Amino acid sequence: MADSWSGSGIDVHLDWRPETGRPGLADAVRAAVRSGRWPPGAAVPSTRALAADLGVARGTVTRVYADLAAEGYLHTLQGAPTRVATAGALPLSAPGPVPRELAPRWDLRPGRPDLTAFPRADWQAATRKALQRVAAADLGYTAELGAPELRAALAAYLSRSRGVLTDPQRIVVCCGFSHAVALISRVLCERGVTEMAFENPSLPLYREIAAANGQRIRPVDVDAHGLRVSELDSPAVVVTAAHQYPMGVALAPERRAALARWAGETGAVVVEDDYDGEFRFDRRPVGALQALAPEHVVYAGTASKTLAPALRLAWLVLPRALVEPVRAAMAGSGARPPLLDQLALAELISSGAHDRHVRRSRAGYRARRDRLLAALPGTVRPQGISAGLHLLLGLDRPGSPAEAEVLAACRRRAIGIEGLGPCWHGERGPGGVIAGYAAPAGHAFAGATQALVDALWEVTG
Ligand SMILES: Cc1ncc(COP(=O)(O)O)c(C=O)c1O
Repeated sequence: MADSWSGSGIDVHLDWRPETGRPGLADAVRAAVRSGRWPPGAAVPSTRALAADLGVARGTVTRVYADLAAEGYLHTLQGAPTRVATAGALPLSAPGPVPRELAPRWDLRPGRPDLTAFPRADWQAATRKALQRVAAADLGYTAELGAPELRAALAAYLSRSRGVLTDPQRIVVCCGFSHAVALISRVLCERGVTEMAFENPSLPLYREIAAANGQRIRPVDVDAHGLRVSELDSPAVVVTAAHQYPMGVALAPERRAALARWAGETGAVVVEDDYDGEFRFDRRPVGALQALAPEHVVYAGTASKTLAPALRLAWLVLPRALVEPVRAAMAGSGARPPLLDQLALAELISSGAHDRHVRRSRAGYRARRDRLLAALPGTVRPQGISAGLHLLLGLDRPGSPAEAEVLAACRRRAIGIEGLGPCWHGERGPGGVIAGYAAPAGHAFAGATQALVDALWEVTG
């Protein structure tokens, strides 16, 4: 008999057959402890409750518990509930704690916001409101394109803050930009499009996801004006128009116009990865490219930079012709962002708390950027400084240290930072180091900056 019992107030599961008697029951409890199903430190059911659940005499359970306590599986104490022995006392190894990814001592990894600034109180209030308002019927299998409340809030937000031309009907909420790339790649494949251009350099992850979903990847170079639009010759392209990742340049106005024109003329699909469009420091924000060609550009935004990557919330604004195919792909993937988080984000945006958080973050990141620039030695050339959460330290001058040397000096100081190398597609271009100045907690920013400066001085002499 394999069953669960909850009579004791806790749910337990034992693989026990009555015909195996007391020895069989002892084996079943040992197995539950060894497998971790009865975890170290957990209170076990009372002898009365377990006996009642199993339909055996209470004395049987009492003897089994006593035997297992003697063997070191259980811990009994007069007047207190019997518990599973803690790991050190167990005769056989029970599963240990799940290891966590350790942040580096000085965290300058690009693409990460200051997670200590996550607006916990606002999120909590938004979640509470969402829970109060959500209809029971909405807790069923959720809408494939996302919660209507969030799609409406995003339509208003994207239109006012990024100049996106949209209505809620063409918005789909997905689990991060990585999920978005997988969806779009698959949808395009089904429509006979099997080649996607990516900027060179660009983050390798999304090229890999597109390739894993059936796309052949074509690199197209980036220069000081962004993607070289005149070199495009693919039916689809992914572009970081507002702030090229990792070089940090904005796509020049004439190239934006040329890209929109090219898409209109050729029927190509442009995926605009607007990953950090909220963070522009020195000039007016560059509006979304999507507004120039809404039936050809898929606009993609994410909560990973404004709030936290762990939310896994991102959104696409689709050309009308792609709404149904993407809905079908969402249905096929089975993946949906959790509804309550979608509703909380909708509430955060509608209440104005999101805008306040973004404005605060923008001012804070801008101040960090200025402090980092002031501290850097003149031997490195910071690039892409006018926006975003990172800057690129170009190592392309004669006499510049090699990228590997800088990375090694950073590693010796326990600095988490990334090299430009892996972003090149095929042949490696000039060296560089990508420093994410948003990542450290406020109190660690000065230390992280100093550690980086020390590392740079070490290798530049
Ligand atoms: C270039 C670029 N695009 C998009 C994203 C956002 O990805 P996601 O929404 O999966 O967190 C990132 C995050 O690091 C990024 O660097």
